[in-house]
Amino acid sequence: MDDLDQLKTDLLARVDDADLAALEDLRVAALGKSGTITEMVKGIGQLPPDERRDAGQQLNAVKNAVADAIDAKKQTLEAAALDASLSEDRIDVTLPARPDGAGLIHPISQTIDEMVAIFCEMGFTVAEGPHIETDFNNFTALNIPPEHPARQDHDTFYLPPDEDGERKVLRTHTSPVQIRTMLSEKPPIRIVVPGRTFRADHDATHSPMFHQIEALVIDEAIHMGHLKGCLIEFCRAFFDVDDLPVRFRPSYFPFTEPSAEVDIGCSREGGGLTIGAGADWLEILGCGMVNPHVLENCGIDSTKYQGFAFGLGIERAAMLKYGVPDLRTFYESDIRWLKHYGFAPLDVPNVAAGLVGGRGR
Ligand code: PHE
Repeated sequence: MDDLDQLKTDLLARVDDADLAALEDLRVAALGKSGTITEMVKGIGQLPPDERRDAGQQLNAVKNAVADAIDAKKQTLEAAALDASLSEDRIDVTLPARPDGAGLIHPISQTIDEMVAIFCEMGFTVAEGPHIETDFNNFTALNIPPEHPARQDHDTFYLPPDEDGERKVLRTHTSPVQIRTMLSEKPPIRIVVPGRTFRADHDATHSPMFHQIEALVIDEAIHMGHLKGCLIEFCRAFFDVDDLPVRFRPSYFPFTEPSAEVDIGCSREGGGLTIGAGADWLEILGCGMVNPHVLENCGIDSTKYQGFAFGLGIERAAMLKYGVPDLRTFYESDIRWLKHYGFAPLDVPNVAAGLVGGRGR
């Protein structure tokens, strides 16, 4: 009995002094398969029957006391270890964050945003239309009847004929949205139409898919002066050159009469290209007064209303403004190219601000 008390006192003292590793050794030595206490429990069978019960109870009490002491000590040691590691491995929240590789705005999107910002400042609203168009909207209503030679210029992608034999097209320009708008809205109309267009043409300066922005203004007293003023203002705001020379050259489009092409001044001195006053001209867009046939095709009284329209290629404008040398690179999704030519998402287009502040409106 004294031996048992002594054993208990010894074991509890050793538990008290142990670290985590020693604690596990102690548990195995006392309570493991052939530990001291376990062996003593096994020995109970050899005792005379009338002593077994007492001895069993006493041994159990010691066994439980030692097991409880080991558990309690283990919890205390683990909590202390956790506290120590929390205070040693403290996270430094003042470290600068790792750069997170934010995405960039594609130059096509940026250019569209800039142009839309300029036109919205002038009072235009944005209109859109589908990429798959009827032959009527893309050609016929725009005064390009079936046998018209202008159809050949467009390198049209035709879709297989549908049930009633109609062959839809991938729109070859944004001009069908003029028709859609005039068929569904009454004048006054003032819209800009950015969007994708398609022509079967592919080389360094042509892509089968490209982007245009179109504008249409219809009202009672619109004349060519409005067209010229609007386009001169637009070209100067977009290229951010206050005195940019802008020239109107007579041209032909079936849907406008008279028609013109617009050139902006540039200089090619020293091999490079600079937009602004210079010895050279660069063609940038097509425009004209809406042909009365087009108004009548849309049920608009051409003796009461007239207007102007223009259209230009987004890629070409972006190439000129941002010095992109090859059209095809716009669609290659080369991450190095995007890093070079892309725009930070929070770069607010400065052109609208230029219009308001710079030109004192
Ligand atoms: N739709 C013409 C083109 O694709 C551009 C244009 C639009 C010309 C509106 C005049 C008026 O080339």
